[in-house]
Amino acid sequence: MPAAKIYYDSDADLSAVEGKHYVFLGFGNQGAAQAQNLRDSGIPNDKILIANREDHYAEDAKSKGFTVEHDFSKAAAVADVLFLLIPDQVQPRVFNTQFAPNLKESVTIVIASGYNVFYKLLNFSPKQDVVMAAPRMIGSSVRTLYVKGSGFPCFVSVEQDGTGNAHAISLAIARLIGATKTGAIASSAREETAMDLFAEQALWPTIIMAFREAFSVLKEAGCSDEALVYEMWMSREPAEIFERAADEGFIEQLKHHSPTSQFGQLSGALSLDGKSTKEWFQHILHNQACVLNGKFCKEFSKIEDDLEKEGPENPLNELYRRSEASELGQAEKRVRQRLAESAAKSS
Ligand code: NAI
Repeated sequence: MPAAKIYYDSDADLSAVEGKHYVFLGFGNQGAAQAQNLRDSGIPNDKILIANREDHYAEDAKSKGFTVEHDFSKAAAVADVLFLLIPDQVQPRVFNTQFAPNLKESVTIVIASGYNVFYKLLNFSPKQDVVMAAPRMIGSSVRTLYVKGSGFPCFVSVEQDGTGNAHAISLAIARLIGATKTGAIASSAREETAMDLFAEQALWPTIIMAFREAFSVLKEAGCSDEALVYEMWMSREPAEIFERAADEGFIEQLKHHSPTSQFGQLSGALSLDGKSTKEWFQHILHNQACVLNGKFCKEFSKIEDDLEKEGPENPLNELYRRSEASELGQAEKRVRQRLAESAAKSS
């Protein structure tokens, strides 16, 4: 594979979006951050409209000086650029029924996640542009890094070039939200979705399982709940390790550890061939379970409505209940309770 192209401010010509009207559908994590960044990049307030249902997000947008439109068909009609920044699971219903019928033919639709485009859940018309600007971080960091002037990592792509100018428009938009300051990486909805879902369904579950089983083995060997939760995560050592991995290098950061630790970690990792884990990962990515063949998307859409429910009917609540019932979950609960009690006594 050739190296991915990285785009900087100097690659983005703002004349591609001159005079355009921007509509943000959603003013949550990403919407609030990106709309403020765009305004601070010089887009006048009267060219920005926040389309939001009546809720506290709408109030937040108003309090920050934005104009808010609750009628989505009116908002759709004025958009030259539409940022789709409501949660992925509600986008198809809201976009397809309330936005798509009223959009201009030449509109540019900006997505911050590849999911609905990769799985073809959104109804675009062929002359519209569909571009991706997918920040690799939470909205509050998208905003604070912009304010600091340092930019944030982001994936960009053109998913549909209806106007013939989608590439230039996508880079101009990425620049306006602050994504080309430190370099926006050329990607695609497919790549973004595959990596995101793979991390969620393969990598992090493996890490959670490794922590759960490590906890159990050390507990059986007589370690206390307190010692274990501090050793394994509450000391923030793992967070610090990942910070250093980002700054200095995934392997290079090991040099901050003691020689015993370096020897143990490097020789231990090299002695594990990872074959069964790799097979499991490939299975998640390609086969029965999921990511690339769309099976996960179909299965997940069947339970999406249940995620709004209260109590055990919500499958997420049931997964939390089972996970918290694990030895690790129960031990952490006890430790936090004991810590709270001793803090209360000493105050
Ligand atoms: P969010 O959960 O913060 O969205 C809240 C917004 O959606 C509010 O404006 C709310 O009024 C609106 N909303 C919620 N349900 C709605 C409904 N049923 N009908 C109409 N409006 C509704 O969303 P978030 O997390 O900012 O995600 C937006 C997009 O950004 C998604 O595509 C997500 O994958 C992507 N993204 C999110 C990141 C994050 O840090 N949360 C990171 C990178 C990308």
